[in-house]
Amino acid sequence: MSALPCLLLLALALANAAAPTRAALMFVFGSSYGDIGNVNQHDSARPYPWTVPYGETWPGVPAGRYSNGHVLSDVLGAALKTAPSVSISKLSGGINGTVGLNFAVGGSGVLSAYGYPPISSQIDAFQRVASSFTPEQLASAVALYTTAGDDYFYYLTVQKSPIEGIYPLTVNVGKQISADLIRLYQSGLRKFAVTYLPPTGCLPIATANSSFSSCNETWSVNVAQPHNARVFKNVLGLRHYFANGSIVNLDLYSAFTSAQSSLGGLKPCCTGNDANSKCGSFGAGGAPAYTVCPNPNSKFYWDDLFHPTEAGWQAVVNQLQSVLGPLR
Ligand SMILES: *[C@@H]1O[C@H](CO)[C@@H](O)[C@H](O)[C@H]1NC(C)=O
Ligand SMILES: *[C@@H]1O[C@H](CO)[C@@H](O)[C@H](O)[C@H]1NC(C)=O
Ligand SMILES: *[C@@H]1O[C@H](CO)[C@@H](O)[C@H](O)[C@H]1NC(C)=O
Ligand SMILES: *[C@@H]1O[C@H](CO)[C@@H](O)[C@H](O)[C@H]1NC(C)=O
Repeated sequence: MSALPCLLLLALALANAAAPTRAALMFVFGSSYGDIGNVNQHDSARPYPWTVPYGETWPGVPAGRYSNGHVLSDVLGAALKTAPSVSISKLSGGINGTVGLNFAVGGSGVLSAYGYPPISSQIDAFQRVASSFTPEQLASAVALYTTAGDDYFYYLTVQKSPIEGIYPLTVNVGKQISADLIRLYQSGLRKFAVTYLPPTGCLPIATANSSFSSCNETWSVNVAQPHNARVFKNVLGLRHYFANGSIVNLDLYSAFTSAQSSLGGLKPCCTGNDANSKCGSFGAGGAPAYTVCPNPNSKFYWDDLFHPTEAGWQAVVNQLQSVLGPLR
């Protein structure tokens, strides 16, 4: 190489070193795939994920994440090299612009689920503090909007409503997601990642009936597929409206389908011992009413609800790498 290109490269390297760019922030909205500790720790009706064995691989104790370790928002943040985010419920010492904020609460619906406030109330909370960040911080930040499908699981398993009647709910949920994203854009955020639903019929909550041996196509065809088609269509519309921003779909349907087949199949690592128990349930006298596999990160699914292991999330984010460019 001649001297001139060498000098140019050196000059470029020095310029980069002289002007270090601060890591972009991340703001997280949604339910359990995003939550890093906001869900109520003292809700005795739903002890998990603040109970063993959640968090057993990392940090070694239950820490409010629905996994054996890190969850989607953590793994995606690491892949995008964003600054760390803190749970809004754990924020102490005020907002100082060096960390992002996580508003996600496990169990939250886009409209309503399990008695939790809807995701739009997380956006209310964000709007109350958005002015603590500069417009540049907001414009360069990544907003992750992730629902695990809680509206639908609540409809099917708690309200016990018929799956044949679920279509209007997918339409209304889709509309609300768009309305939520528009409010975030109007608050100054510009980079959006919106998750699709995974193949609902392959989630442990739907495969338990078959001892985790086969996907229940009825659940994928009637829930995830119409939901994702709606989100796809709505996001296309928003791309036009968000002319000065970027919005990408994180296709959890394809990523879960591929990752679960290469990493331990449909059977979750941690399962309740009988029909009345779940991962994290305890029987009379405090005896564990669940069984955990010896090597959680050899499995894709962690619990018998719908939550992947940390290794599962890592495999999912690896699948998504090719679409992350606009978020960087
Ligand atoms: C900013 O706030 C976060 C979370 O409260 C805290 O961990 C961090 O130390 C603070 N940094 C500065 C420079 O004040
Ligand atoms: C499990 O199977 C029973 C009997 O076929 C059915 O009534 C029930 O809806 C199924 N549950 C789920 C969650 O698919
Ligand atoms: C699949 O889900 C549908 C709707 O919940 C249910 O009626 C059916 O029994 C399930 N099939 C199996 C094999 O669990
Ligand atoms: C687009 O965003 C950039 C960076 O935030 C800003 O400088 C520019 O003025 C914006 N353009 C429009 C048309 O809003």
